[in-house]
Amino acid sequence: MLKIAPSVLSADFGGLAEAVGEVTAEADWLHIDVMDGHFVPNLTIGPPVVQSLRKHSGLFFDCHLMMTDPGAYLEAFRRAGADGCTVHVEVGQTSALLAEAKSLGLRAGLAVNPETPYEAIDPFLDEADLILCMTVHPGFGGQSFMAEVLPKIARTRQELDRRGLGAELEVDGGIDEETAPLVVAAGARVLVAGSAVFGADRPWEAARRIREAGEKALAGHR
Ligand code: DX5
Ligand code: ZN
Repeated sequence: MLKIAPSVLSADFGGLAEAVGEVTAEADWLHIDVMDGHFVPNLTIGPPVVQSLRKHSGLFFDCHLMMTDPGAYLEAFRRAGADGCTVHVEVGQTSALLAEAKSLGLRAGLAVNPETPYEAIDPFLDEADLILCMTVHPGFGGQSFMAEVLPKIARTRQELDRRGLGAELEVDGGIDEETAPLVVAAGARVLVAGSAVFGADRPWEAARRIREAGEKALAGHR
């Protein structure tokens, strides 16, 4: 089974609750991109917005922390209503951050940038509840999918399965109907999609089409 996680980064921030309501029927998770203007050259959402959205949505809030110092904010995101928080391996202190997220009751995710090799995440596969392979350089929505990340996704899937680990494998960046089959065939099971969903006239239909394209690939792969 696949999970579809629309990314609110591409939604209208002036009407977030309404935008989320439009995709809820076709969404498994809601992906919330947190950018600190330091780890990435962009600023987006913080705990107050998560707290406000929480009142309008019962979806699993999958918070992607593109921050240099995520540890300073994990508790605030948890209190605001986050269900999962994903930190980047590039910021270091990975074991401590994953342990802290778990101790707060969060699903603890580990993200890896396109240019960071598989070897950087290998030691943490059994400490994370989720591995997020970035398929664009983080910071902005609407970029083109980087097919060169596919071997890393496949390697991560292979190692998770070989070690019998149940961590989710998520991909983020440039996911649409065309690229969903590629990442699913490589082993991804949680698909984040921003512009392909919220840029469509009917976001819920776009999410459903991405799911269908991915599930077709999954059926063909089995
Ligand atoms: C990029 C973010 C993504 C972004 C994806 O830094 O992490 O979640 O919303 O947007 P699309 O699907 O448009 O590439
Ligand atoms: Zn993201």
